[in-house]
Amino acid sequence: MIQLQVTLEINGAEHTLQASKTDSLLDVLRESGYTGAKRGCDTGACGFCTVLVDGEPETSCVVPAAKADGSSVRTIEGLGDQDDLHPVQQAFVDNSALQCGFCIPGMVMRSTALLEENPDPTEAEVREALSENLCRCTGYKKIVEAVLDAADRMGAESKIVADGGGGENR
Ligand code: FES
Ligand code: FES
Repeated sequence: MIQLQVTLEINGAEHTLQASKTDSLLDVLRESGYTGAKRGCDTGACGFCTVLVDGEPETSCVVPAAKADGSSVRTIEGLGDQDDLHPVQQAFVDNSALQCGFCIPGMVMRSTALLEENPDPTEAEVREALSENLCRCTGYKKIVEAVLDAADRMGAESKIVADGGGGENR
């Protein structure tokens, strides 16, 4: 099998990875230990494998690894960890927006991309943004509530950063 070298910036660190000509970005991520991105359909239809490529959400199972060469990739491992969850992750937990959890990394990455581009989305905008990500468990209502909650939390956090944490009456 023809081997390629693919250089990716993954969550801020540069990696040079071996890939075959037929490997997808999802293949090389998972083989390199980034198993947060899940393999569902492997055809670009479920969104479970969503990661951010140069800031844009992409279904990594249909991105050829060779095409991703030189890209900056963000995966769920780059957001938060068990002790320090990203606000989007924390909002999913606090809103009970997950059951089996298989769709959640993709949901969280797509939601993060949405909120970075549109910090105060309407419910319709959240539903539209997540329309390519399937969930077989939750019925979507709690997921949408979690994303709207995350928007509130991130808005409040950025306000604290902007005023130095002292509030308006400092
Ligand atoms: S596994 Fe990639 S979209 Fe389903
Ligand atoms: S929580 Fe099970 S598929 Fe979404």
